[in-house]
This record gives sequence, structure tokens and C-alpha cells, in this order.
Amino acid sequence: MAGAPILVFDSGLGGLSVVAHLRAALPERALAYLCDNAALPYGTKADEWLVERIVSVCRAGVAASEANTLVVACNTASTLALEQLRASIALPIVGTVPAIKPAAEASRSRVIGLLATSATVRRPYTDALIERFAGSCRVIRVAADPLVLEAERLLAGAAPDAEVIAAALAPLFDTPGLDTVVMGCTHFPLLRAWCETLAPRPIQWIDSGAAIARRTAQVAPPGGRRGDLDVSFATAPEHAGLARALARFDFAAPSPITL
Ligand code: DGL
Repeated sequence: MAGAPILVFDSGLGGLSVVAHLRAALPERALAYLCDNAALPYGTKADEWLVERIVSVCRAGVAASEANTLVVACNTASTLALEQLRASIALPIVGTVPAIKPAAEASRSRVIGLLATSATVRRPYTDALIERFAGSCRVIRVAADPLVLEAERLLAGAAPDAEVIAAALAPLFDTPGLDTVVMGCTHFPLLRAWCETLAPRPIQWIDSGAAIARRTAQVAPPGGRRGDLDVSFATAPEHAGLARALARFDFAAPSPITL
């Protein structure tokens, strides 16, 4: 291997929305991508099972990639397991949590939406973020798990279903005055163009991608230089459309990761 990469982890392909920002912020740096697509979606699974799974997948991915930094490009994993990951992996770890603070700062109406997985919308971590940074706002929490699969379909080369997206977003659009939405799942920025088109009025769609890239640039130690294609790993590497989606972000076809 050319030198230690930064490993980007998600349940599926949502972490690629973060990769886009990392590629822009660290254009010379080698990345590696790891997805636990055999267990996708995470957002509807039990917390206890998820913690154990996330720690073992990330440990295996760090070992296989020889990374020197881990970016957990998944809100569902970060709001649950960052502490356990930090206790068991001795590398700088950058997590992804819903961008409540910038959304509260950006909203004029003080009515904001949190669009995330079922797991993320109900987490104590999320409650604490809202209490701390959006105390003066009304926050509408919307669980939108079907959007995870629509984003996966899009990246795998199929057209997403506009009706499914519209139904998931309807509670936001039906809330009078709501002017800002936190995309609290890394899959959702991949559907930003659909969200903007379907919105009945201008809405600010805010995600954490740029902030994660800035933070990663601060904490990642020097490491490998990017080659033509970076390595990737998956728990279900043969999944249809996966290699093609990863190739669009300059990753080689995924190698299997065994737990
Ligand atoms: N991309 C993930 C997130 O940011 C979750 C998708 C899933 O439910 O697996 O929350």
C-alpha cells in the first residue's frame, strides 16, 4: 500500500456524500472506503446490536486498510457508538452528527426540520444537540428511512422514486413557516436535487459534509498520497451497482471484509 489512507465508513453509500467534500479539501490524500452494506439499513436496527456490529466492522476495516484516521460518515453510527469506537480504535476518529447548530443559526423563521433515520431522530445524543443549539427553535423531527434506499438506488444507477421521496418529505413541507432542514443522514445530500425540486417553497438544506472535511483536515496525521484509484471494502462486495458507484468517486472495486 502507498501509505496510510483516511478510512471513510458508512452502512452503505451515504458516506460518498462526505467523500465528495474530503476529495475537495484534501485532493492529494489517499482515502479508503468501507461500507457495511450486508447490514444496510442501520437506521431501523436495535442499538445494542448496532454498537457491536459498528465496532467490529470498523476494527476490521482499519486493519485491512492500514488507515491512520477514521471518518465515521454515518449519523446513525456516530450518535450511538462514537464513545465505544474511540475506546477500541487508537486512531483519530471524526464523527458525523446532525448539523443542528448551523441550521438554527441559518433559520429566520425559527422553525427547522431534522430529516434523519428512525434511530437518529430519537437518540439522546440528538436530544442534547437540539437542547444545546436549537433551544429557541421549533424542531420537527422526521424519520425518513425510505430515502436511504432511494439514495442507494440512485448511486447504483437506477432512477429514484419521486413519490417515495415526496411522501418522506411531506411532513416538512406541511409545517407552516419551516425554512431550514438538517439532512441528518449522509445518504440524503445525494438526493439534494430531488429535495429541492419537490419543495413547494425555498428551503435551506443543511448537511455536515463540509464541516467533517474541515475537521478531518485538522486531525488527520500525514499519510498516503492518492493514486489513480483508492481501495474500498464492503461486507457484501458483490452487491449490484456497488462497484460502479464507488468507481464514480475514484475507488477500486470493493474487497470483502470478514468479521
Ligand atoms: N448513512 C447513514 C446515516 O448517516 C444511515 C443509513 C442507514 O440507515 O443505514 O445515518
